[in-house]
Amino acid sequence: MHLFQYREGSLFAEDVSIIDLASTYGTPLYVYSAGTLERHYRAFDSAFGKAAHLTCFSVKACSNIHILKLLGSLGAGVDIVSGGELHRALLAGIPGRRIVYSGVGKRPDEIRSALEADILMFNVESLQELRTIEEVAASMGTTARVSLRINPDVDPHTHPYISTGLQKNKFGIEMTQALEGYMLARDLPHIDPIGIDCHIGSQLTSLSPFLEALDKVLEFREHLSILGLDISYLDLGGGLGITYGEETPPHPRDFGRAVLERTKGLNLTLVLEPGRVIAGNAGILVTEVLYTKTTPSKQFVIVDAAMNDLVRPSLYASYHRIAEVLPHGRTEQTVDVVGPICESGDFLARDRVLPAVEQGELLAVFSAGAYGFSMSSQYNSRPRAAEVLVRGDTAKSIRRRETYDDLTALEG
Ligand code: LLP
Repeated sequence: MHLFQYREGSLFAEDVSIIDLASTYGTPLYVYSAGTLERHYRAFDSAFGKAAHLTCFSVKACSNIHILKLLGSLGAGVDIVSGGELHRALLAGIPGRRIVYSGVGKRPDEIRSALEADILMFNVESLQELRTIEEVAASMGTTARVSLRINPDVDPHTHPYISTGLQKNKFGIEMTQALEGYMLARDLPHIDPIGIDCHIGSQLTSLSPFLEALDKVLEFREHLSILGLDISYLDLGGGLGITYGEETPPHPRDFGRAVLERTKGLNLTLVLEPGRVIAGNAGILVTEVLYTKTTPSKQFVIVDAAMNDLVRPSLYASYHRIAEVLPHGRTEQTVDVVGPICESGDFLARDRVLPAVEQGELLAVFSAGAYGFSMSSQYNSRPRAAEVLVRGDTAKSIRRRETYDDLTALEG
């Protein structure tokens, strides 16, 4: 459930009119709803009830520090994948002990910063990385808490670019090697193996791949305990899908129930790393129609947002619902909604049935709150969009629109 609704014929974010926001802040514009973010966070977090757990929002989904602050104030931790994300998390006031660090390519300097911040744990993705963490921790005279990220070889049935838990993917450590990894971790003096981790992919729309992976990981943990290694943290990653169009993903409640059923009595603290399910439907991208154009084979709606602002349709052929901010009730047409970038792959929608729109009108691209702005770029020297956070009847700018000077500022 999100709080972008039509009122008296035009689209609102909570109690603020999108038309007003576009006229104040310009377009393309990312608009987030604080109420929706809170609702989604609470729905997810409460799915784990009183069980010991930490919900670590995946920063890559939506990295704005104001949004991290908001989630942090509700008790969220964060899942980071780079020194840059660590920087954001710390700026947002997230305590180190609520930060977990995933990713296959952590550099020694990034590891050092994370140790300085005393993060909860590193999700380690290779034995070489484990040795590097040992070296950095030793040089600092400290101990690093780690989980090994297991690659359970489970098919998440999602887009190949965002599936991570198959043996052919670069992520995680295959079971046999992971066993060796834990034995090594146990012997390394500056490593404390406290957890076990797995993340099999993103935008999962059924529970079964999660549970298949969970069963494998629990079995593996059992094996470790027979070998005398007690693991107290179980990180299940993120990946729960959302409704962009027709998908019917499981409710977090069902996800939580199924996980708790399997982990009851095991004396584990659960760590979850949701991104999309919290932020995806809490943000929209507002764009203005620049031109319409008809060719012998297509009708195009050319808008001022492009693949640099929202790359998901171009990169994954993703569907995002698009609707008029002020519906006019005109006849429907089949159109391509495209941006100004000089690539045929620059589109927000292809062969989409939309009511006819005219120059100067506004469109809303829904479900853009996750992997929207955070994946944006300046390609074609397009300054990045502004971001606004709405709460009730108040809108706050949380990132100003970039200027042309911003584009060249680092080129000295
Ligand atoms: N944890 C780890 C280790 C991850 O790699 C990811 C996402 C998450 C958590 C959060 O997953 P979520 O709950 O958001 O599904 N850009 C793509 C999605 C890439 C996901 C990468 N990893 C997209 O726009 O669909």
